[in-house]
Amino acid sequence: MAISEDLPGGWSEPLTPDFYQYRWQPLTSVRLQGSTVVVGWADGTELACYSLWLAENADGLGLHPQTRECMVDPGDLPSPEALTEASLGPRGELSLRWSLPTGALITEVHPGWLRHIADGGQLPEASLPSIETWTAATFGEPPSVSGEAVLEDDAVLAEWLSLLCRFGIARLQNTPTDQEFCEQLGRRIGPIRGSNFGAVFSVQAMVEPNSTANTGLGLGQHTDLPTRETPPGFQLLHCVVNNVAGGFSRLTDGHSVVNELRTSHAEHYEALTTLNWVFANRSATDDHRWTGPFIDHSEDGLPLTLRAFSPVRGFPAMSPADVPRAYAALRAFSEVAHDPRFQIRFAFAPGDVVGFDNRRVLHGRDGFAEGGGLRLLRGCYMDHDDLYSRLRVLNRRSAARIDADEGTQNA
Ligand SMILES: [Fe+2]
Repeated sequence: MAISEDLPGGWSEPLTPDFYQYRWQPLTSVRLQGSTVVVGWADGTELACYSLWLAENADGLGLHPQTRECMVDPGDLPSPEALTEASLGPRGELSLRWSLPTGALITEVHPGWLRHIADGGQLPEASLPSIETWTAATFGEPPSVSGEAVLEDDAVLAEWLSLLCRFGIARLQNTPTDQEFCEQLGRRIGPIRGSNFGAVFSVQAMVEPNSTANTGLGLGQHTDLPTRETPPGFQLLHCVVNNVAGGFSRLTDGHSVVNELRTSHAEHYEALTTLNWVFANRSATDDHRWTGPFIDHSEDGLPLTLRAFSPVRGFPAMSPADVPRAYAALRAFSEVAHDPRFQIRFAFAPGDVVGFDNRRVLHGRDGFAEGGGLRLLRGCYMDHDDLYSRLRVLNRRSAARIDADEGTQNA
């Protein structure tokens, strides 16, 4: 708990139920309406807080001072009427009086923490960049950051991850070309998500390929592992060697593809979002399966999950009468996904790392002549959750530094 040195008596600002630092934003009004406290600020913003939610988050009542989590089971919370008074504290904090079986208790709530909730700062997307949809007219190559210092410099990592979240693609250039680098980079971000291809995998032409990726064949625009309930959120591909002719990489923003289908091919869009397929990988040792549509919107439309990999699209899970229009819709999807208006095409250089949102962005490549050189990529997957968490924490540290530089008061 931080001590505000400019306040008399060594008074401690109220503990917040997290590890963030909040500007002190004094309340100007507090009123208790039944079991709900309505707090307000000078600019007219208000927030309604139910008594039991305040109890769960109150230092001295529900809040565990070390973990900053609520330590009280809902069955053990006091009655809603245990909150008997709510008032404006002398420094603009919220002061609460509780009447508990153990006696009366006064707790205080940080007004800056309440304000960040009133402003929506607690929402998952609040501390991440807004998504920007792109086409081939937006840029010809992935937005890029110089990556020499990415393993040591948090600012470089944060800049690259911010671009990755914003556009769904971002490139690091001039990174080392050793085969361990991809794993080092992945682990710097968070846990690597393994698959039946291993934690870190190689993409290169093989004598006995275990995937079409490991041949010199061209690959149509696709997303990886739609056979999973939740396909991997991000994919990192690190170029170790590339001296083949051809093999250009291609990326397409799924949001642009979905928008084009929705507006110009509504009938196909409807089929792609409502008709299900069973996706199943073909392997002697593994059998992953999941049923879902080709374009999979979550409840509120985000995050988008494209289940767009026809080599593992195994079986129609729909009425036989719907199968012809399902195939017509797949053809329309493919045409839009490969339309030069939406697709960027670029060469991998040794030391490049291209990160992309595997559920949003379609990737593919041109074919190349096997035996005419070596094209070796090292790759790994990460879940959205872990990469987003890393970026939020980097942004948290950055915000703390900015506040310190500006001399603002923090809890
Ligand atoms: Fe792939």
